[in-house]
Amino acid sequence: MTENFFSITANVNYINQALEEAREVDKALKIVQNYGNGILLSATSMTKEEFNTALVHKKPVFIRHISAFDAIGEINNNMTTQDVANMVMSYISNIEKDSKIAVQIRKARGEYYFNPIDLKGEIDKILVELGAEAEIKEPDYIISILLDEANCYIGMSPSELNLSSWSGGMVHYKKEDADISRAKYKLMEALDTFELNLSDIRSALDLGAAPGGWTSVLLEKKIAVTAVDTGDMDIRLNKYQNYTNIKANASEIELPEQSFDLLTSDVSWNAKNTAVLVNRASKFLRDGGYAIVTVKLMGDKVRRTIREVKEIYQEIFDVMATKQLFHNRDEITLLLRKRK
Ligand SMILES: C[S@@+](CC[C@H](N)C(=O)[O-])C[C@H]1O[C@@H](n2cnc3c(N)ncnc32)[C@H](O)[C@@H]1O
Repeated sequence: MTENFFSITANVNYINQALEEAREVDKALKIVQNYGNGILLSATSMTKEEFNTALVHKKPVFIRHISAFDAIGEINNNMTTQDVANMVMSYISNIEKDSKIAVQIRKARGEYYFNPIDLKGEIDKILVELGAEAEIKEPDYIISILLDEANCYIGMSPSELNLSSWSGGMVHYKKEDADISRAKYKLMEALDTFELNLSDIRSALDLGAAPGGWTSVLLEKKIAVTAVDTGDMDIRLNKYQNYTNIKANASEIELPEQSFDLLTSDVSWNAKNTAVLVNRASKFLRDGGYAIVTVKLMGDKVRRTIREVKEIYQEIFDVMATKQLFHNRDEITLLLRKRK
């Protein structure tokens, strides 16, 4: 029986949950190698298309990225970087003219005499000679290369089948010196991942807002923000005219009902208590409005916690999406919509 190889990438602390998700697609899925860094090499007897499509359809929470491999090449010390690039490309066929192709190289383990960036440069050159465009953002296809000592796993897939077009699902944003908190990247990634249309969102209620990273992201998008926290907000936010700070426990605030278009919560508290708190505050959100909330994962009953927390939110909201984002640590992010 032929086997197909895949890499599965998740937060290193949630690799078991990622594996469970993959095994919901193929219960006979084998682990070939757990590299211990959030990357699993696995094998399935399903075809590449069947496995990838079924996994994408399942919308996994913890699997951030998959790549399917078509071949295993061999690397040795006598090869130049150009030789390695030619070897990789000898396994890639059907390059469509003018197609946009991203080359993503990841080192699972091993030390190499060549720099992966140089290898990518060599492969990009060959792609351009073949009439394709070497493209990083919004590629049509991704060539995935996983370096594992002398083995080089090689595959090409339409980018939507990798779950993320970022290498390993590692979404990167430009860091700015003026960033109020690193937490802001969680909200930026959530807005991008959930593709939330912000054009009709004029006001937001941000719970657990201090020091103000999420608040700053929303204010920058010209959304009026009421930020609630028992702690102090960064004073640099005071320059925004449509910014209000309420220094209080979020479970005790009183505001006009149905007055916000968006509710966000990054409250650092037990996930179920936070869900009760957010449900109470949902009366300030207009019907049909969205909420983006983080769910803090503590203890080992991760999937049970998520199920129970969702049940609490479902008293008020429909759960539109559930994802452990690259910028989430011991937490996941939910997109919720208040029922009318
Ligand atoms: C992870 S931080 C939020 C970071 C914020 N999203 C940012 O981008 O800067 C969690 C915040 O939740 C706040 N918090 C926890 N329980 C709260 C409660 N019951 N009411 C209001 N704030 C709470 C904490 O004071 C803390 O500032």
